[in-house]
Amino acid sequence: MENNKESKTILELKNVTKRFAGLVAVKDLSLKMKERTIHSLIGPNGAGKSTVINMITGLLPLTDGEIYHRDTKISGMKAYQIAQTRCSRTFQNLKLYRSMTVKENIMTGMMMDMHQGFLPFMFDFKKARQEDKAMNEKADLILKFIGLQELSNEYPANMPYGKQKLTELARSLMLEPSLLFLDEPAAGLNPSERVEFVDIIMKVFESGIDIFLIEHNMDVIMNISDDITVINFGSKIAEGTPEQIQEDPLVIEAYLGDRYKKEHGKGGRKCLK
Ligand SMILES: Nc1ncnc2c1ncn2[C@@H]1O[C@H](COP(=O)(O)OP(=O)(O)OP(=O)(O)O)[C@@H](O)[C@H]1O
Ligand SMILES: [Mg+2]
Repeated sequence: MENNKESKTILELKNVTKRFAGLVAVKDLSLKMKERTIHSLIGPNGAGKSTVINMITGLLPLTDGEIYHRDTKISGMKAYQIAQTRCSRTFQNLKLYRSMTVKENIMTGMMMDMHQGFLPFMFDFKKARQEDKAMNEKADLILKFIGLQELSNEYPANMPYGKQKLTELARSLMLEPSLLFLDEPAAGLNPSERVEFVDIIMKVFESGIDIFLIEHNMDVIMNISDDITVINFGSKIAEGTPEQIQEDPLVIEAYLGDRYKKEHGKGGRKCLK
C-alpha cells in the first residue's frame, strides 16, 4: 500500500499536556495522523505513550490542549461519545472477562455503543431481540475475520496468550471503528504469534481501518508503519517515516541505540511483501 502524502488529517493533537500531581507525563505534544495510514507512537518505558491513547480515547482528561478526530473536537467528550465517532482501542494490559467465552467477550465491545439506548430497550423487547441477533451475527463475522471461530465458546484462560490478544483485537472491531488504537498488541507474544498478529493487523488495516499503534518491537514498527512519532519524557523528539526515524540521532540516543540501525536495513511496509 502506497503512502499518500497528500491524504487528509484524521487525528490531530494540538499542544496536549497531561500532568499527574507533580509529574508531567505528556508535554505540549502536537501530532497529525493522515488518513489510510498506520501511525506509530514509540519511546522508552514511561515516556507517556499509553497516557496519550488514554487521553485520545477519553479515559483521562487533558490538562491542556485539544484533540480532533476528523472534524470533531473529542477532547472534553466522554469515552463512549468518542467511541461513537468510530474510535476503538485495545489495552496494554489484557482486559478480558475470565468468566465469559471468547464470543461473549467480543460482544461486550458493543456495550459502549448501546450506552445511549439502553433504557428504551427495556421497554421494547422486539427491538432488543433484533439488536441481540444483529450483535450475534456481527460477532460471528468478526470471529471469522480474525480466525477465532473455532474458539468461539472457549474461555480465555484456556487459550494461548496470542489468542487472548486476538480476542481483544476482535472485541475492538465490534464498534466498527474507522480508527483503531492498539497499545502494545505484540507484547508478550512469541515470534510465531507475533507474525500471525502482524498479518492480522495488516488485514484489519486493508479492510479500511486506520491504525494508531504503540509497540516496543522495532521489527513490527519499522515494517508496518507509514509514519512514526517518537516521544521521550512526554515530549516529541522526532517524527517521520521508518527510514527517517532509524537514522535520527536523537532517537538513536534516547531509544533505539546503535544496535537496531546496524542490524536492520531499511524499514517500510514493502519489506513484508
Ligand atoms: N494514572 C496515573 N497516575 C499517576 N501517574 C501516572 C498515571 N498513569 C501514568 N502515570 C505516569 O506517567 C508516566 C507515563 O506513563 P505511560 O504509562 O503513559 O508510559 P508509557 O510510555 O506507556 O510506558 P510503557 O512503555 O512502560 O508502557 C509514567 O511516569 C507513569 O508512571
Ligand atoms: Mg504504555
